[in-house]
Amino acid sequence: MSLCSFYSIIERAGILKEGYRDVTLNFIDTHCHIIHGVDDGPASMETSIEMARLAMDDGITTVVATPHIVEGYYDGHDRSERLRQLGSRLSDASIFLELVAGAEVPMSACLTGDAGLLKPLALNGGIYLLMETADTTFEQLAQAVYQIRLCGLYPILAHPERTRFVQDNPSRLAEIVARGEVFCQLTAASLDGTFGKSLQKSSLVLARSGLMHLVASDAHSTGRRKPCLSGAYEILRKELGETAARMVTHENPRRVLESQELENAVRNSGADVSGRSVLARFMHRRR
Ligand SMILES: [Fe+2]
Repeated sequence: MSLCSFYSIIERAGILKEGYRDVTLNFIDTHCHIIHGVDDGPASMETSIEMARLAMDDGITTVVATPHIVEGYYDGHDRSERLRQLGSRLSDASIFLELVAGAEVPMSACLTGDAGLLKPLALNGGIYLLMETADTTFEQLAQAVYQIRLCGLYPILAHPERTRFVQDNPSRLAEIVARGEVFCQLTAASLDGTFGKSLQKSSLVLARSGLMHLVASDAHSTGRRKPCLSGAYEILRKELGETAARMVTHENPRRVLESQELENAVRNSGADVSGRSVLARFMHRRR
């Protein structure tokens, strides 16, 4: 049984005090490949349903479906209909999970600056666009951010902790983020150690440096890449405190869905990252 399921049961039994309720449930996952048959996510409806069951069991109440948009393969035009069909099956299976339409947009599409292409792909049809950032350079990223902003959208960088230039020189990412026009979404499995100690360490450097606005599962399956946020939540709660952990797993995701301004999880949560800059210490070690 997961931690969140445990809390869910005792909360329903009225055992927990009021003050504990807010921190245990209602995660909102803003990056999940839960639609089957459109990308490298689940191959069948049954696996999509099982992913939804795992998400609910982990304390996730809302999932933003973010299939890869790949030119010539999948353009995302039927996401709403696919989500309606999945939602109907979930209802039949007594799985209570809200499904919201989104997409993970490749850098090449972002660089076009084509508002007609990009705006319909924004998360929940709002102002935030989830941008794939793997294998990109700083210059490409800066150009893509510029193009997205010209469309009136705000880019959310998917798993920047896996991007080479960020790993080599996170202060370059900090330059862009400091302008307040781009936001960082770290992957839960990077933070909780599922993807290894090295990625966990570099993810925590970004988190403690304020380069984290959201944490999402980027789930693709029911295995190693399953929809799970509770492990990352617990680590962030210990590292940065409850307010910051809550901000990136619930509060900011809710703001994404409502097209509201996002908070910096470190700066605005009172998290204790005092003393010498975490980023500066990281950079010193790599010299
Ligand atoms: Fe993804």
